[in-house]
Amino acid sequence: MLNPITVHLPKQPAYSYPIHIGAKFLENIHSYLPKVGSTAVIITDDTVKALYALSLHQSLSKAGHKTLLLSFPAGEVFKNGQTKSWLEGEMFAEACDRDSVILAMGGGVVGDVAGFVAATYMRGIDYIQVPTTLLAMLDSSVGGKTSINTPQGKNLIGAFWQPKAVIADIACLNTLPQEHLINGLVEAFKMYLTSDVKSLEFLDQNLERILARDEVLLSDVVHRAVSIKASVVEKDEKDNSLRAILNLGHTIGHALEKLSEYKLLHGYAVALGLLLEAKIAERRGYLQAQQYLFIKTLLQRLNISTSDLKKFDLEAIIQKTKLDKKKRDEKVHYVLLNGLGSVYETENRFAHVVDDETVRRAFDEVVKK
Ligand code: NAD
Ligand code: GLY
Repeated sequence: MLNPITVHLPKQPAYSYPIHIGAKFLENIHSYLPKVGSTAVIITDDTVKALYALSLHQSLSKAGHKTLLLSFPAGEVFKNGQTKSWLEGEMFAEACDRDSVILAMGGGVVGDVAGFVAATYMRGIDYIQVPTTLLAMLDSSVGGKTSINTPQGKNLIGAFWQPKAVIADIACLNTLPQEHLINGLVEAFKMYLTSDVKSLEFLDQNLERILARDEVLLSDVVHRAVSIKASVVEKDEKDNSLRAILNLGHTIGHALEKLSEYKLLHGYAVALGLLLEAKIAERRGYLQAQQYLFIKTLLQRLNISTSDLKKFDLEAIIQKTKLDKKKRDEKVHYVLLNGLGSVYETENRFAHVVDDETVRRAFDEVVKK
């Protein structure tokens, strides 16, 4: 097992927390948990329930914990207020009090909803993230962003509420469908692009073995990405400046997700966003042509090609970017690479205005080859 990473929260040291990354330690999970109070509430989805949460429930019960297992159907469409209310109702019915601890076991959907329940149940109770998708292990379980979707859009209602610990068991990835593995790898690639040339080399050199699910390499992928995310969250927990870098590829990515009515997986949408936004950086002179080519080639090895962008109408993409949360003074903002492993920054600002015409030209260049 790799050494745990700690997310240090300098303004509130008591809320700092460890991230454990390893393989096959789910059966001994109780030894990683902080003291569990009256009830351990496992929140999961139906797929993960059958695969892992039932045995977690058994193992916690065997270890003497009072345990409640709550499960909702899998899928982004269940990340909503109705699911949240139902979970809260079940917890009240079982007399869960402020000492109860939630275990959010599943992908990012479970983590975001269960985290939001934890943030608001009796004005906030402890929770532990037990991510089971690659995306959740290396991104959504870390950093305390919790949310639900509303008819107005994705993640528009939520809270910052940090978990007490994150426990990522890499062995869970053995059952993950390949497209979800790629979904998570794109987010790792994104994080390395923003801050870490060595991890880009590592990904480039080992991609095929990672895709074949070498456990040691997958642990390394997660460890490297989480180290970056932890360091960003420590410096800007509430997303006021530096944390914007985690949004590389997301101005376009979110627009594509919305246009596809969320049929396109988040990571695939971000991958196309990375391509287009890298081309914008190249046009601005921040990225060299061969650096753009490196990004394009690595994504091709994940079976993501520039031709996937052709399926989208450019003007519709531009319209959707106008709803981006980074928008300021009516202008759409983008995170732009400044070489590989670094982002462009001016005066502690990490997202920059890009006009529609630049987006149009970049799009044409990306899709023409
Ligand atoms: P997901 O939670 O929908 O999981 C994907 C699918 O995989 C689901 O069907 C799930 O049941 C299944 N699954 C989970 N673990 C499995 C396993 N080990 N084996 C087999 N199947 C498994 O999707 P996701 O990609 O994990 O997360 C996406 C969500 O994360 C989005 O809602 C997004 O907004 C959110 N997100 C949040 C943050 C954050 O900082 N809070 C960051 C990135 C993404
Ligand atoms: N996934 C973006 C963030 O955590 O800020």
